[in-house]
Amino acid sequence: MTFTQPGLQLIIPETEIAATVSRLASEIRRAYASKNPLFIGILKGSFVFLADLIRLLDFPLEIDFIVACSYGKGMESCGEVKVLYEPRLPVKGRNVVVIEDIVDTGLTTAAVVEHLKKQNPASLKLCVLLDKPARRRMPVKIDYLGLTVPNKFLVGYGLDCDEKYRNLPDVYVLEAECQTNSPT
Ligand code: IMP
Repeated sequence: MTFTQPGLQLIIPETEIAATVSRLASEIRRAYASKNPLFIGILKGSFVFLADLIRLLDFPLEIDFIVACSYGKGMESCGEVKVLYEPRLPVKGRNVVVIEDIVDTGLTTAAVVEHLKKQNPASLKLCVLLDKPARRRMPVKIDYLGLTVPNKFLVGYGLDCDEKYRNLPDVYVLEAECQTNSPT
């Protein structure tokens, strides 16, 4: 199902997303099949990716979430990163795989990774669907990478502009300005 709306331009069709998620699942399966990993999704954007990824993994694993401040209003990063919700499952001693939808400046992901490392996991790897390296401000080591994308604001497949478009099955470039009236 392709979504046609003025201001949205298709960039990654759902078939390409599915092939990418499937490749990532194969890589993760090889490394984690006997390790009972703890997948920690960074909300909200990663929820669609995480849901598709874990259903391709046929071994024991556990799932939790972390909420960190990201863009707040509109298209700009909020700069300061805060953890607003902690995983409920203990991270200590676990083989953790952090799941992120997109890395842009790297501020959010780097802060989340540092935050979780302080809790002494046995190992911690980062799986990212989309990498937008053009605006990087903090270095981020991505262990499992889906696709590299250009410096455009993207929506769909969990990615939003002011909470809209997360439900689209493909990824689109948002050509119109991303504006909001709601408080952060
Ligand atoms: P960063 O801290 O700048 O790397 O941004 C990370 C977070 O910002 C991601 O988890 C997304 O929620 C959001 N984000 C970054 N780029 C985009 C985009 O192109 N569209 C929608 N959200 C984005």
